[in-house]
Amino acid sequence: MVQNVFAGKKIVIGVSGSIAAFKVAGWVSDLAKEEAIVSVVMTSSATEFVTPLTFAALSGNGVHTGMFGRGKEDAMAHISIGRDADLVVIAPATANIIAKLAGGIADDLLTTMVLATRSKVFVCPAMNVRMYSHPATQKNLKILKDLGYKVIDPACGKMACKEEGEGRLAEWDGVREHLAQSLSFQDLQGFKILVTAGPTREPLDPARFLSNRSSGKMGYALAQAACRRGAEVTLISGPSALTCPQGVTLFKVQTAQEMNDAVLAHAANSSVIIKAAAVADYRPETVYVHKMKKEKIARELVLTRNPDILLELGKRKKAGQILVGFAAESTNLLEEGRRKLLAKNLDLIAVNDISGDTTGFEVEFNQILVISASGAETLPHTTKLHSADLLLDRVLQLLSKKP
Ligand code: PMT
Repeated sequence: MVQNVFAGKKIVIGVSGSIAAFKVAGWVSDLAKEEAIVSVVMTSSATEFVTPLTFAALSGNGVHTGMFGRGKEDAMAHISIGRDADLVVIAPATANIIAKLAGGIADDLLTTMVLATRSKVFVCPAMNVRMYSHPATQKNLKILKDLGYKVIDPACGKMACKEEGEGRLAEWDGVREHLAQSLSFQDLQGFKILVTAGPTREPLDPARFLSNRSSGKMGYALAQAACRRGAEVTLISGPSALTCPQGVTLFKVQTAQEMNDAVLAHAANSSVIIKAAAVADYRPETVYVHKMKKEKIARELVLTRNPDILLELGKRKKAGQILVGFAAESTNLLEEGRRKLLAKNLDLIAVNDISGDTTGFEVEFNQILVISASGAETLPHTTKLHSADLLLDRVLQLLSKKP
């Protein structure tokens, strides 16, 4: 499993003439940071909005703008650029370029290159709402889909022309997931994976609650990685500032009891359940309807037990189902992990060391100790997304052994 799906991948970005071209400069910069090899092809109208120099500087590569280059290496650019590309992305795609691609017209470098490539081509439309909804554009987009192009629907909202509606260039976070999924080996296709993430909040009154430091990053990374690998992913999340990864079905909850109800409702239907959430073990026994005056709050808070969701899942585990727990520990990682693995009838437990500040809660990185019936293994210190992929590799091994 590679650490980064984009690393070393050859991605051609075709830019056509829309004000949204400036946004795509950010996409190119992001892909280059992810170690993709990015080539940019611009139509002559696109160069009116953003200079080729901008894309050259951000991609670290030369930018192609015309069919008839002077150098020998440019003579067959319309064929060579797309020939060994892993992906081609047309963004922003104007109504004009969409119409040309639908008609098979090849009258400039970008359209000729697209006709010549056999790589997967993503088209990201961006235009005024009335141009987008015009029957001609809609017909052309349908033709593109029928021809096998992957059209990424535009977003809705305010446009540069001050009008509002559908036609804004899709957001990069979502587009990146489409590209990542298309570059990833679909080894989790056909599996339904249920992931929990984040903390729970146990209210005391309308202003106060008991909670913990979980940001949701580890759980969201698991959902994102599983979705990229083709799984059908449901994410049940406590309060988190994170955005749901593209393609994942999200249910938001607040309390442990709400998480319990949501998880148990989805559990029977899941091939794999991964419980990365940090669920509060206790909640205040009394929840006040109105904010309590500080003088009136008892110094000793009376608590009551929350349901142990993972324990219940272990009792209900179906044949063939894989149950993965997480544990946040600051001492005796191996012993605590083994104890919870057995007590909760888990197939795998991922133990996080929360004693420092480079793993566990809130940070971007993690180092997981994975324990199963066949032994214990410390995974490398790496990003949470890569940790998620490594854990999913172990889950896949277990799935292949189950009937
Ligand atoms: O969200 P981040 O900031 O990225 O941080 C990630 C993380 C550290 C929160 C995560 O990787 C992690 O370790 N999650 C589990 C934390 C935890 O609650 O550990 P625990 O040992 O208390 O619980 C063990 C397991 O039982 C967990 O899978 C938990 O989801 C589950 N549990 C616990 C209590 C409860 N009432 N119900 C449960 O299902």
